Amino acid sequence: MTATLPIPPHFALRHQPRRLRRRAAMRAMLRETQLQASDFLLPIFLVEGTGVREEIASMPGVFRHSIDSCLQLCGEAVARRIPGVLLFGVVAAQCKDASGSASWDSNGLVQRATRAIREHYPDLLVIADACFCEYTDHGHCGVLAPDGDRDDPATLENLQRQALSYAEAGVDVIAPSGMVDGMVLAIREALDAARYERVAVLSYAIKYASAFYGPFRDAADSAPSFGDRRAYQMDPANRREAFRELALDLEEGADMVMVKPAMPYLDILRDVRERCDFPVLAYQVSGEYSMLRAAAAAGALELQRSVLESLLAIKRAGADAIISYFAIEVADWLD
Ligand code: PBG
Ligand code: ZN
Repeated sequence: MTATLPIPPHFALRHQPRRLRRRAAMRAMLRETQLQASDFLLPIFLVEGTGVREEIASMPGVFRHSIDSCLQLCGEAVARRIPGVLLFGVVAAQCKDASGSASWDSNGLVQRATRAIREHYPDLLVIADACFCEYTDHGHCGVLAPDGDRDDPATLENLQRQALSYAEAGVDVIAPSGMVDGMVLAIREALDAARYERVAVLSYAIKYASAFYGPFRDAADSAPSFGDRRAYQMDPANRREAFRELALDLEEGADMVMVKPAMPYLDILRDVRERCDFPVLAYQVSGEYSMLRAAAAAGALELQRSVLESLLAIKRAGADAIISYFAIEVADWLD
């Protein structure tokens, strides 16, 4: 025999959470997390030429821009009160070499774009991604030793060259993304020695070896020609390792840290948020973008609602700012 519990009349339920949900004004008043345009940074892929705005096949709605077109895009970002852009240079095969030396050319793509943005939009923050995979002929994030492993000391020296060249061009923030041990310290020391003490370092401190970077490598022509990045990026299975990476980069002088990718790593984002008082950024990476775009194109998801919900979740998990290919669209939707 099963004992039946007496069910009280519904009105007698003292706590009814739905009292606070029925009316839009109540929901608006009690909303714990809000998205705004100033939460977002826009990544931009740069190419040589003029009037170039070519769509990236795996990222519909995202383009590679020549510097003039990039300026137009920056204008759109400024008009929507997006605070900054993250620059990536995409160079032709003949400009690539074993060390990625095109990345520290004072007349390189990112350097020229930075000077142009500075001139036209002085209030827009310019952040330069500092890595080598877009510039090396082998596609790895640095110099390779004869055994195929990355030569970290040589890579750090080149990273200092690259950082100084970006600082000289006028960037506000340098964002090393190669997961080289000691990269933050190397950059900070080089900047300070050259009296670029105002330039901040945003470390891609917690960067997982993720399949979600696939479309980016197509966009930036930066896929490794052999092997993968698991010997330097983090194992997706690891959580405690994120805390070690966080501690090291803060000790080395990072001003801000990043967790990447974002949505598959919301637990890590929350953990990192709780373990430090420095700004924590999240990168909604190319694969996250393409996934939402494709699902919407297939009619499976409503684009605006699913994108806003994803970004809200990233902010709720603890991100102070979000790097997103949707930044411009989102700013329009929020308006
Ligand atoms: C360069 C870099 C990558 C991304 C940002 N900087 C690619 C990679 O590490 O393979 C990924 C960004 C994205 O997928 O949107 N190291
Ligand atoms: Zn890289």
